[in-house]
Amino acid sequence: KHDVLTTIVVFGASGDLAKKKTYPALFHLFQQGLLPKRTRIIGYARTQMSREQFTGRVTSFFKKDDPQSDIDSFLAICEYVSGKYDVAEDFKQLRSEIDANEKAMKKQEGDERVHIYYLALPPSVFVSVGTQIKENVYDGSCTNRVVIEKPFGHDLESSRELSVKIGALFAEDEIYRIDHYLGKEMVKNILALRFANVFYETVWNRYYISNVQITFKEPFGTEGRGGYFDEFGIIRDVMQNHLLQVLSIVAMNQPKSLRSEDIRDCKTQVLQRILPIQLEDTLLGQYGRSRDGSKPGYKDDDTVPGESTTPTFAQCVLHVDNNRWRGVPWVLKAGKALDEAKMTIRIQFKDMPNALFPSLARNELVIQVSPKESVYIKTIVKEPGLSTNLAMSELDLSYHRRYQDLKIPDAYATLILDVLNGDHSNFVRSDELDEAWRIFTPLLHQIDKEQVVPLAYEYGSRGPKGVDEFAAERAGYMRTAR
Ligand code: BG6
Repeated sequence: KHDVLTTIVVFGASGDLAKKKTYPALFHLFQQGLLPKRTRIIGYARTQMSREQFTGRVTSFFKKDDPQSDIDSFLAICEYVSGKYDVAEDFKQLRSEIDANEKAMKKQEGDERVHIYYLALPPSVFVSVGTQIKENVYDGSCTNRVVIEKPFGHDLESSRELSVKIGALFAEDEIYRIDHYLGKEMVKNILALRFANVFYETVWNRYYISNVQITFKEPFGTEGRGGYFDEFGIIRDVMQNHLLQVLSIVAMNQPKSLRSEDIRDCKTQVLQRILPIQLEDTLLGQYGRSRDGSKPGYKDDDTVPGESTTPTFAQCVLHVDNNRWRGVPWVLKAGKALDEAKMTIRIQFKDMPNALFPSLARNELVIQVSPKESVYIKTIVKEPGLSTNLAMSELDLSYHRRYQDLKIPDAYATLILDVLNGDHSNFVRSDELDEAWRIFTPLLHQIDKEQVVPLAYEYGSRGPKGVDEFAAERAGYMRTAR
């Protein structure tokens, strides 16, 4: 919609998220010609700065090889307002700035107009900022969209409380809850893979699938953000949101259409069929120093309390109790300070019944979300040559080989584009969020209350000892060589 008169306000414009994600994504969309012709981006933050100081700072957010002419044209649509997050006068000032900019963009009677409020802010100020927007900035005569970022509470109760407060200010269809994993190329690809190919959907059920593993591994620890992390832990940080969102797309039934509410209905229905996770189906870990001593342990971070039992690693087995999936274990695994950076969805099929050949290994469909986006099927072939033995090989769709010069956009660019288009498909609805917390809250409370001590693992290792055995025992998972 290129002719919509568009204002994007970025709250927290001098913060880390704005710097690393929001502004680079907006710039990327601008370079691609995907921002509406008449767009203004107004940064809002507490720091007192002139417009020039601010645009100087924004420039430092971009890459060295971005063409200066593109940067200059982008900066021409950027403004800055400094203000506090709870002072009505400051928000009224913001409103005047929005009005002035719309006038400068030659606003006319009958123009379709949209105001996007992007809260790149800590959740502690969501409600205060939301209230100020509603009272002093909100313009009922145009379309309004509010973008918010996790953490949405720390358990079911606090999340509901936040939802109620935000829901009192904005309608659900004005709210865009970001889970940036929903903007990743390979996550967006799951729907197409599943529902546009005849051969996946027919085996996508408990008759053919033995287990599903969704794994998130990072090779670095919480250095620099230990204070934040210690309050949340790995389950709240990535598992309750990113991994569970991915699970819901892998497990959902075919939606009636590609309309966002049809998709979100189907995702929510899957979550509704997941029983709360039990502690005995969970393995927790916390990293210590690397074997060679060069990398610090989690508790070596000054911002982490010395007695912290916060897990930096978790593996949970859960079940989706519906006809498609009954009996199929889903293993979610997430950890920091591991041996590699990788996010994969691994669908392991059952053994071949009455096999003609001796069993070698199971077929697997692997969707590699990152790095190096790919989809491959572990397939058994005859060893090439004179041999008659079997060998494990792959049907391999590696995006970087298949699509030369492909530049996969950052998840934030695609999500902001969705917000511009008013498409909610890749955002988390409030009932979906509720379900996600319902699944994890009893476990989280038990871990907190009983101060469950996580197993130690070395920085840079594969995780605590016994991880594979745990998955094998609980989920019948059989490890196969890549
Ligand atoms: C964030 C978590 O939501 O996702 C971080 O808070 C994590 O702890 C990050 O590192 C991972 O995102 P990505 O896109 O780098 O895989």
